[in-house]
Amino acid sequence: MSGLFITLEGPEGAGKTTNRQYLAARLREQGVDVVLSREPGGTPLAERIRDLLLEPGDEAMATDTELLLMFAARAQHLAQVILPALARGAVVICDRFTDATYAYQGGGRGLPMARIATLEAFVQHGLRPDLTLIFDLPVDVGLSRAAARGRLDRFEREGRDFFEAVRQTYLDRAAAQPERYRLLDAGQPLDAVQRAIDGLLPSILDRCRG
Ligand SMILES: Nc1ncnc2c1ncn2[C@@H]1O[C@H](COP(=O)(O)OP(=O)(O)OP(=O)(O)O)[C@@H](O)[C@H]1O
Ligand SMILES: [Mg+2]
Repeated sequence: MSGLFITLEGPEGAGKTTNRQYLAARLREQGVDVVLSREPGGTPLAERIRDLLLEPGDEAMATDTELLLMFAARAQHLAQVILPALARGAVVICDRFTDATYAYQGGGRGLPMARIATLEAFVQHGLRPDLTLIFDLPVDVGLSRAAARGRLDRFEREGRDFFEAVRQTYLDRAAAQPERYRLLDAGQPLDAVQRAIDGLLPSILDRCRG
C-alpha cells in the first residue's frame, strides 16, 4: 500500500463533511486505513489558528494575515498529521486544503495567485493532493444550507460576489488540471451525490492498492 491524499473542496454547505464520512466508510469496508482531517485545523494548535480565522472579531483581519495564518495552520497539519499518515500508507481524506486558499484568499479576497503559489511551494515542498473532489453548487443553495445551521462564521458573512468568485476559482482550477480534479454536482439530492462517489471508488481503491 502507498499513501493517497484526497481533498474535498467546495463552498459552505456543499456537503464536504457529509460526504467525507461516506467516502471514509466505503473505503474502510474494503480494509483501507483512512485518516480523516480538515483545514484549517487538524491538530490542536492548528485548530486554535482555525478559531482565529473563523471567529468574527472587532479588529479587521488584513488579507495577508489571513493568508499566512492559513499556511501556518497547514504547515502544522502537514507535519503532525498528513505527512506521517501518508508515510505509513494511509489514505488521508481532508475537508479543504490549498485549493480553498486559492478559491477564498485568491478568488474571494483578490490576493495574487502567484503569492499563494509562493507560499504553497514554501510550505508543501511540492506535495499536492492526488485527487480533489469539488462539490459544486449554486451560491444561493450553499448559503442557504449554511444559514440553516445558525450563527455565521467570518467567511460565511461575505457577500454573493465573494462566493461567486470562490466558485469560479474552483471551476477554473478543475478545468486547468482535469487529471487531478473530479467535479461533482452537489446541488443534486444527497443520494445522487453518493452514487457519483460510488462511481469513483474503483479507481480510488486501485490507486491506494497500487
Ligand atoms: N446533496 C445534498 N442535498 C441536500 N442537503 C445536503 C446535501 N449535502 C449535504 N446536505 C446538507 O447540507 C448541510 C451542509 O452539509 P455539510 O456540513 O456536509 O457541508 P460542508 O460542505 O461540510 O459545509 P461547510 O463548508 O460549511 O463545513 C447539512 O445539513 C447536510 O445534511
Ligand atoms: Mg464541513
